[in-house]
Amino acid sequence: MLMRGGPLPEHIGVIMDGNGRWAQSRGLSRAEGHRQGASNLRQIIEECVMLRIPNLSTFAFSTENWLRPQEEVDALMLLMAEFAVSEAEEMAKRDVRVVPIGDLGRLPERTRREIKNLRDRTREGRVMTLMIAVNYGGRDDILQAAQEISREVARGDLDPEEIDHERFRAHLHTQSQPDPDLIIRTGGEWRLSNFLLYQAAYAEFYSTEALWPEFDAHELHRALREFQRRERRYGGLHDRGADAPDGGGGQA
Ligand code: IPE
Ligand code: IPE
Ligand code: MG
Repeated sequence: MLMRGGPLPEHIGVIMDGNGRWAQSRGLSRAEGHRQGASNLRQIIEECVMLRIPNLSTFAFSTENWLRPQEEVDALMLLMAEFAVSEAEEMAKRDVRVVPIGDLGRLPERTRREIKNLRDRTREGRVMTLMIAVNYGGRDDILQAAQEISREVARGDLDPEEIDHERFRAHLHTQSQPDPDLIIRTGGEWRLSNFLLYQAAYAEFYSTEALWPEFDAHELHRALREFQRRERRYGGLHDRGADAPDGGGGQA
């Protein structure tokens, strides 16, 4: 059970890893694993809506995933297009706003078109913002923000001294979204693999052996319980608790 009244993340990031291993251990093709992964994403979105998590971001395809065999890349591109088509109605109905992040320019025409359509169809969604990272890399995100800002400076519209974090982050793909509080990685690895590098500065990291297609609502609750046990200090000191001389509650 989740701690009643305990903190829940304002923004969960998910590195959906392990589709290939899930499929291979069952004698299925990696593409079949990705298909199962996409269907699992629907369940997790639904659960996050139920839990009233306002922001969810999911890593679907990294700037490095082009290195995979063409056949697998093609299968992923097709799946993402199909996902975008099948979810447009559903997400709009659930009042979820879908925001793709990453460079859509390199995607096949149909995948790009359907993803943009999903974004446009759900623009008014107010219940949750779902960011889907497609051809996304944290380093590219920072680089393109630096380039955009440099252009403003070169035009004489901006003084370099005025570049602060608020201004900088507005140029990231995630724009005004809050930073992730919790990043979940399935598939047992302990790395970010170029996901939300700037934004993850103080995210709590949670890694589970569960492979993405088997990461269900129960597993999500386990991650959230673990999050509720974490003490976030942001470089400050412990909250000393109620028995501290000043009554505790000192904000880090
Ligand atoms: C994650 O599953 C999905 C993508 C990277 C697109 P993987 O395909 O990386 O699965 P494993 O890690 O090989 O099991
Ligand atoms: C991270 O998984 C990217 C996505 C989940 C989309 P990878 O499987 O690509 O990461 P590495 O190669 O194990 O670091
Ligand atoms: Mg992987």
